[in-house]
Amino acid sequence: MVYESIPRTVRILLLGEPGVGKTSLILSLVTEEFTEHVPPKAEEITIPADVTPEQVPTNIIDICVAEQTIEQVAEEIERAHVICIVFSVDRQETLNKVASYWLPFVRENCSDDYRKPVILVGNKIDLIDYSVIDNIWDIAEEYPEVDRCIECSAKSLINVSEMFYNAQKAVLHPINPIYCIEEQE
Ligand code: GTP
Repeated sequence: MVYESIPRTVRILLLGEPGVGKTSLILSLVTEEFTEHVPPKAEEITIPADVTPEQVPTNIIDICVAEQTIEQVAEEIERAHVICIVFSVDRQETLNKVASYWLPFVRENCSDDYRKPVILVGNKIDLIDYSVIDNIWDIAEEYPEVDRCIECSAKSLINVSEMFYNAQKAVLHPINPIYCIEEQE
C-alpha cells in the first residue's frame, strides 16, 4: 500500500475540454465576479495560506489545449496534487470526454501505485434547471480516484470557492484510500 505524504502546498490543476469554463472558474474565484471575456489561459495563481480555509498555500493551474502541447499538459498532471476535470453541464459531449479521454489520460500520467485525487466539476449550472450528478456515478465507480463531484457556475458564482476548497480537502483529508487496490490484493 502506498500513501502519499500530505504536502505543505496544494497544487490544483484544471483540465477539461475547450470552452467548459476552466479559466472563468479561476478568475471568478480570484475576482469574485464573472467576466465574459477571459484569456485562453489564466496565469498560475498562488493563494496565500491565510486566505484559504485549510491555511495551506495553494497554487491553481489552468490549461488550454489549443496553446499547450500534450507533453506540457502531462507534465502539469505530474506536478499537481489534485486534478479538477471540468465539463459543461449543458454539453453532454464534454462529460463523455471526461470518461473517454481525461480520466484515462490522468491515469497514464500518474504512477501505477498512487492515483492522484480527481474532482469532477460540472460547470455552467446557471444554464440548466436540473442536476446531472446522476450521470456521474458510473464514472466515479469505474474510477475510484474520483474523490468528489460538484456542480457550479463561474457565472453565478455558485459553488466556485467550494469547488477549490473541495480540491484542497481531497489532498489534505482524503476520503478515498489513495492507493492502488490491485497492488493491495
Ligand atoms: P479553453 O481556454 O478553450 O480551454 O476554455 P475554458 O475551459 O478555459 O473556458 P472559458 O473560461 O474560456 O469559458 C468559455 C466560455 O464559457 C466563455 O464564453 C465564458 O464566458 C463561458 N462560461 C464560463 N463559465 C460559465 C458559466 O458558469 N456559465 C455560463 N453561462 N457561461 C460560462
